[in-house]
Amino acid sequence: MSASVIDGNALAARVRGELAVRATALAARGVQPCLAVILVGNDPASAVYVRNKMAACEKAGIRSLKLEYPGDIDPVVVMAKLAELNADASVHGILVQLPLPSRFDEGAVLEAISVAKDVDGFHAENVGRLSQGQDAFSPCTPHGVMKMFEAAQLRLAGAEVVVIGRSNIVGKPMAMLLINAGATVTICHSRTRDLAFHTRRADIVVAAVGKPRFLTADMVKPGAAVIDVGINRLPDGKLCGDVDFAAVSEVAGLITPVPGGVGPMTIAMLLENTVIAAERVAREAGQ
Ligand code: GUN
Repeated sequence: MSASVIDGNALAARVRGELAVRATALAARGVQPCLAVILVGNDPASAVYVRNKMAACEKAGIRSLKLEYPGDIDPVVVMAKLAELNADASVHGILVQLPLPSRFDEGAVLEAISVAKDVDGFHAENVGRLSQGQDAFSPCTPHGVMKMFEAAQLRLAGAEVVVIGRSNIVGKPMAMLLINAGATVTICHSRTRDLAFHTRRADIVVAAVGKPRFLTADMVKPGAAVIDVGINRLPDGKLCGDVDFAAVSEVAGLITPVPGGVGPMTIAMLLENTVIAAERVAREAGQ
C-alpha cells in the first residue's frame, strides 16, 4: 500500500488566500489586522519561526510588529510591553514565542496577554474554554491538524486516535479538539509502557514527540492516518519529522510529510486567529 499524502503547503496556501480576502475587507472598513510578536533571546529556531510567521502575515495583508529583547532582559520589561499591547486598539493579536529563558514564569507571561488577543490560545482561560467545548482560540498546530482532517474528509466521530506527546502546545490541546469532535483519544508520552500496543490499534496517530523518525512502520495499523507534527534538524542540516516517512507511507492510508505538512498549517491558523480577533473588534465597534 502507498499512502495518500496531505499537501500542507497547498492547503495552507488556500487558507491564506481566503484570509487575505477577509483582511482586505477589514481594511476597507478601517481595521487593518495586526499581530504583535515578542521574541526573547537568540534561539535560532525561534528566530526562524518568527520570521516565517511575520512573512506570512505580510503576504496576507496582516500588519505585524516584532518586539525583540535580549535573553537577559528583566521580565518586568516584557510584562510592561504586554500591558501596552493589550491596551493598544490597533493590535489585534499578541504572540510570545516560546520557549522563554528559564528565568521567566512562562504561565504568568501567557496569562498577561489579553484573552481577546491570545491568538496562540495558550492563556489559561482559552485553554479552559477549549476543554469545556466553548468558543475559544485554539492553539495553532492542533487547529491546523484539525483543518487537515477536515480537508481529507476523515471521520473523527468514533475514531480511535492516539496522540503521542503531552505538551501544552500540541498534545493536550490536540486531544481536547479531537474529544470535542467525538473521537476516542489516548494520549501517550515518554512514560507510556508499551507505546506500540496503543499505536497499532489506532485509526489515527498524531506524532508530536520531537525525535527523528520515531514512529516506525511496525507501529502503525495498515490504512491508518498518520500526522507528523515533528520538525527535527538532522546532523546534515536537513529537516525530518517524528515519523519514518518512507517506511510508514507503505503501511498507512494517509500521511503528512515534513517539511510541507503540519508546519505551514500552523502558520495559516495563526493568521486565521488574528483575522478573527480583528473581525470581532470591527463588529464590536460597529464598523
Ligand atoms: N514555540 C513552538 N511552537 C510555538 C507556537 O505555536 N507558539 C509560540 N508562541 N511559541 C511556540
